[in-house]
Amino acid sequence: MTGECIPLDGKSVSGLINRGGTFLHTARAKEFETTTGMRKAVRTLAHRRTDGLIVLGGNGSLKGAWELAQKTPTAVIGIPKSIDNDIGGTDFSIGFDTAVNTAVEAIDKIRDTATSHERLFFVEVMGRKRGFLALATAIAGGAEAVLLPEIDTDIRSLCRLLEEGKKHGKSSSIVVVAEGDEAGGALRIANKIRKSTDYDVRVSILGHQQRGGAPSAFDRILASQLGSAAVEALIRGERTKLVGIQGGKISFSSLEVAWKIKKPLDPSLLRLSEILSR
Ligand code: F6P
Repeated sequence: MTGECIPLDGKSVSGLINRGGTFLHTARAKEFETTTGMRKAVRTLAHRRTDGLIVLGGNGSLKGAWELAQKTPTAVIGIPKSIDNDIGGTDFSIGFDTAVNTAVEAIDKIRDTATSHERLFFVEVMGRKRGFLALATAIAGGAEAVLLPEIDTDIRSLCRLLEEGKKHGKSSSIVVVAEGDEAGGALRIANKIRKSTDYDVRVSILGHQQRGGAPSAFDRILASQLGSAAVEALIRGERTKLVGIQGGKISFSSLEVAWKIKKPLDPSLLRLSEILSR
């Protein structure tokens, strides 16, 4: 698709609710990060006499949307959409729940081999900078441990934890690793463990399968709610807002909250994962 203008209506999105990806083929654009690219976007909006723009994406896209909003009279509304769930101003971003379900499904299958062959598995999930996906996956997948970018990884205490498990009769274990863990990804960590223990270690990197596939019912409902709220906000005459969901209710924040606020991991989930891994 190259700059062609195709009018869309309600029918254009019919039959899409069960599909992953984007039929608009929108993606991160290096050009948009440059002054020339930004100017081009401002000119395009003016040329097309665009009243409102709705931007779906993660921190980078929403930051870009905010910068664009400073330079154009067009209203800009942001919708949080990222499997990383690391966007401020919302409890959940679109795609997160689906990615957690995909990762948990994979872990359920991996566990069959882990149990049968009495192995220690390191399963790497996405999350370049944050560990929301890893933490939720570890709890839902019944992992023995989780390694997150937000918490220093101590190989010795991980070994102690696994040994404790052995003493209590566990013959296999699964450790979920966020790809951005500061001690390295699953491969590096597994190598360190291999050197200092006699575990039969295997690594599984789930990769991009977490970013695709049919969305979960939760994500379908969330996407419908946020999409509809964004359109209503434009009709009401809102200028630059982020639509989110907080405490189960649709919320509207300043657009910059999306990337300026570093959303903390839920301390009660962190504690729960510790309790469950014992
Ligand atoms: O930004 C979301 C994210 O899913 C990260 O967790 C992951 O590292 C990255 O995207 C992968 O991006 P790409 O598709 O460009 O490899």
